Amino acid sequence: MSGHLTALLEKAALELQAVRARPELEAAKARYVGPNGELTAVMKQMGAVPKEERPALGRLVNESKQKLQILLDAALARIDQAELAAQLGPPLDPTLPSPQPGPGTFHPLTLVREELCRILRKAGFAVADGPEVETEFYCFDALSTPTDHPARDAQDTFYLPEAARFGNVSKHTPGERYLLRTHTSSVQVRAMLKGPPPIRIVSPGRVYRRDTSDASHSANFHQLECLYVDRNVTVRDLKSLLDYLFESLLGPGTKIRFRPHYFSYTEPSFEVDLSARHLPKVNKEWIEIGGCGIVDPSVFSTVGYDPEIWTGYAFGMGIERLAMILYGIDDIRAFYQNDLRFLNQFSP
Ligand code: DAH
Repeated sequence: MSGHLTALLEKAALELQAVRARPELEAAKARYVGPNGELTAVMKQMGAVPKEERPALGRLVNESKQKLQILLDAALARIDQAELAAQLGPPLDPTLPSPQPGPGTFHPLTLVREELCRILRKAGFAVADGPEVETEFYCFDALSTPTDHPARDAQDTFYLPEAARFGNVSKHTPGERYLLRTHTSSVQVRAMLKGPPPIRIVSPGRVYRRDTSDASHSANFHQLECLYVDRNVTVRDLKSLLDYLFESLLGPGTKIRFRPHYFSYTEPSFEVDLSARHLPKVNKEWIEIGGCGIVDPSVFSTVGYDPEIWTGYAFGMGIERLAMILYGIDDIRAFYQNDLRFLNQFSP
């Protein structure tokens, strides 16, 4: 019996060495340990073996089973390896020259963002950064948009699940939640809480809103937010800064207009429309580009600035929209598709 088992294992080792694919392996497995397998047959004969020989034989059979299992596992590992290698294709030679030599290009949104910051830096603005995962306090409450405010509905969007609360969420409002920021206006609150006026900051960044994606909408886009706080700041200062900004970016002939609007953190508030008919592909007289206004005194009170002394303006606008006007792009989705034929067209 022992000789039979040794021969069986040797045969199995040879066969399994040759196995290259899963169906072959399954078939081999069935031939040895399946219901009609050769090793199974040996086990079935145990009953007929004299009682005193059974323990020794039992041990032998068990050992053979284990050895066979090792052979089967090794064959399976080899097949796994071969399948992975087939998926990965020929090995990579990192010493070969790149098929695409030459430097890359900046993303058009990066180019426009950097240009906007450069123009604003010349006007004395410092770049400020803030987190994309924001708390309700910075995104809404501190901007005079409390929980029950109707203006909050439109921006009550991507909240993180309760379980995602980490650490002490905020010292400001008990029980407040985290959300993906709906506008970068939260950075202005953070900037004001950091120190006293005067303040001049620009904060570019990614924002998230519930929006169905189409040629001009995206649930995730880029925004630029500005805040200026000083004594005697007026709408005229705001208008002249925006005139300077858009003319510097889009060239002479660019015009803007203010339309009265409502934002809870500015009063008066306006929507800003842009006219740039001198640019190719601009086929509309006025294009809505952002919102702005004179900072509401209630916002100053929240951050501890005396509203009797300090005044300020704030504005926010989408970078995608500006890039579309500047470069004549007619579909916002082109920015996110990583198509090199699109991206390679832009260089500083
Ligand atoms: N945060 C507004 C938006 O995302 C735009 C905006 C309006 C920004 C008025 C401001 C402002 O700073 O004062 O639609």
